[in-house]
Amino acid sequence: MIQHLLHISHVSKHFGGNVAVSDVSFSVEEKQIFGLIGPNGAGKTTLFNCITGFFPATSGDVIFDNKKINTLRPDQVCKLGMARTWQRVKPLGSLTVLENVMVGAFSVTSSTREAEAIAQEQLKVVGLSDYTTKSAGSLPIGLKKKLELARVLATRPKMLLLDEICGGLNHTETDTILDIIRSIRKKGATIIFIEHDMKAVTSICDQIVVLNSGEKLAEGTPAEITNNPDVIAAYLGGGHHA
Ligand SMILES: Nc1ncnc2c1ncn2[C@@H]1O[C@H](COP(=O)(O)OP(=O)(O)OP(=O)(O)O)[C@@H](O)[C@H]1O
Ligand SMILES: [Mg+2]
Repeated sequence: MIQHLLHISHVSKHFGGNVAVSDVSFSVEEKQIFGLIGPNGAGKTTLFNCITGFFPATSGDVIFDNKKINTLRPDQVCKLGMARTWQRVKPLGSLTVLENVMVGAFSVTSSTREAEAIAQEQLKVVGLSDYTTKSAGSLPIGLKKKLELARVLATRPKMLLLDEICGGLNHTETDTILDIIRSIRKKGATIIFIEHDMKAVTSICDQIVVLNSGEKLAEGTPAEITNNPDVIAAYLGGGHHA
């Protein structure tokens, strides 16, 4: 039987008169890499904010690991095993790389020694072991994105929501991040991946949902989505930008 880890059911989010997300439903299977794509302003980040408790959906349900999490706070959602990265990375610039990742680890342990061990382990996963004592603010964008990934991995999540984790990166840096994401999935995590780079999306995602003006426009495999005339007209046909 297919195990669904996340159900989004008829979720809408209104900001005053602006409908940012409108009646969106989909389900994510365990260990899937699930793509969420669509034009700028389509509602992708807003949906992440509703799922992870940064603000509640106006209507609809979010079911994670068989629990309704609609009204939980971000820290409570994180404790259940869901972690997200931010579209605009915001490390604690005055702290070191190691300390930034320890902040994530403190959500699963109160022991400083254990938090440091978890942080070192995750910095190794993303290839930042040589940067532990550097100040996080001094890192170039490519390494900041890796740091962001290590920070969420240190919370030991079952599910990761990655908001443009490859945004602003060159092809080589993107490929490295995609390899790290594949290795994370191999260890058993489930991933939702927001990204504008279609080459990255189609190479890594099992299933894709397309949002357009807050509504779900299409859902399918990468091949189905790239050949869908509605998706081509609304998004892939050109004119969009990261
Ligand atoms: N906190 C907020 N208050 C008011 N309106 C908001 C808020 N957050 C998002 N919106 C609006 O919701 C809509 C969807 O924005 P959102 O950031 O979710 O799009 P997106 O798909 O992530 O776009 P991008 O690809 O540019 O990141 C936009 O019209 C935006 O202005
Ligand atoms: Mg966004």
